[in-house]
Amino acid sequence: MPQPQPGLFTVHTHLHFHQFLTLKPGTKPSEVVAAVTRARMDSSWIGGPNIVWGFGPDLWRSLMPESTPADVANFEGIHGIDGVSAPATQWDIWVWCHGSEYDVVWEAARYIHIALADVCDLQEDLQCYKAADSRDPIGFIDGSENPALDEALEVSLVPDGEPGAAGTSVFIQKWIHNLPAFDALSLEGQEDVFGRSKADSIEMEDDVKPATSHVARNVILDAEGNERHIFRLNTPFASVDEVGTLFIGCTRETDRLNTMLSRMFGTSGDGLTDHLTKFSTPVTGSWFFAPSMNDLTAAFGGINALPDEIIVSGGVEINPDEAKELGADINLPAQAPTAPVSAQAEVQTSSSPGSLNIGSLMGESSYLTTENDDEA
Ligand code: HEM
Repeated sequence: MPQPQPGLFTVHTHLHFHQFLTLKPGTKPSEVVAAVTRARMDSSWIGGPNIVWGFGPDLWRSLMPESTPADVANFEGIHGIDGVSAPATQWDIWVWCHGSEYDVVWEAARYIHIALADVCDLQEDLQCYKAADSRDPIGFIDGSENPALDEALEVSLVPDGEPGAAGTSVFIQKWIHNLPAFDALSLEGQEDVFGRSKADSIEMEDDVKPATSHVARNVILDAEGNERHIFRLNTPFASVDEVGTLFIGCTRETDRLNTMLSRMFGTSGDGLTDHLTKFSTPVTGSWFFAPSMNDLTAAFGGINALPDEIIVSGGVEINPDEAKELGADINLPAQAPTAPVSAQAEVQTSSSPGSLNIGSLMGESSYLTTENDDEA
């Protein structure tokens, strides 16, 4: 049975480095595969952080068409009512490094950035945090109704046997809060915006909860009246003059989350919007597919696989042939010394497609076809 990326379900880490990237024009499929392979390999030397990879719908479908759910599609943006809208930025790659030690998380993120730099342009580089009580900087606890982990797997992962099984569709949107305007509301006014109490996140009774509250707009039901959940992994960010939330929603069916968005932005037909949009504004929006570990490995090779070339790290030279003679199961990343970034940047890995078992990915790309792409 395929396994999901574990970093998606490792909740309550405090430090979050998100990178959003687009492919440089003319990038060949083999170059993307080699760069991501190297980024995964190089970052596996850093001890401990969770690393999650997501790919824009077009890119993932180009690389692994048989592992892409049919409903995975680019975010087109929403022109809502009452002046609210959700812009589309639709980027190609999302890499999320998270953990609890700043230096370790940063180093993994930077190592990945270096490995991708030749083929990708960095569009957004966002450092986020998670408060101990999961309180968003807008002042409310975020996550109270989030499914528990066992249910989270059920609501977010593509079922076994379907294309992309154990992967998840992830919608990511950067929101900027207008804190002065929200803070100017009375406590009751703020609670009406969310439909929950501020101190302890108790949901309002249905007869007093405004239909325009965030909770009311985001509780959606199926034909039998059962609630359709998503799994949220929001991470806030805050500097002295810019405060907001990186909304991260995982779902096995994109329709669930698209329905929530249409109810928030007033395109669902009932003439209502989510009043959170009066105080917070989305400035980016992209769908990504975060494949299973099995599909990541199929596309980019195993992160603990021995490369074909000699590795030099921290002044230590490791010859893979000798390592193989010592024991084929040797785990290089775990055994290699942790080197400073300057030394780690010297790591050499093979970029030969044949050595990475990715030959089947070549020449199948529609998205990655450009005038320079003589392999596609
Ligand atoms: C500025 C951005 C956002 C903030 C600060 C925010 C914050 C919150 C808070 C405080 C709650 C109530 C507590 C909880 O159950 O977690 C909540 C609930 C929820 N939010 Fe958001 N949210 C944001 C954007 C979104 C977006 C874009 C969606 C979906 C497209 C969404 C979907 C949901 C859902 C499904 C719930 C649970 C509703 C329920 O079952 O009671 N949120 N959010």
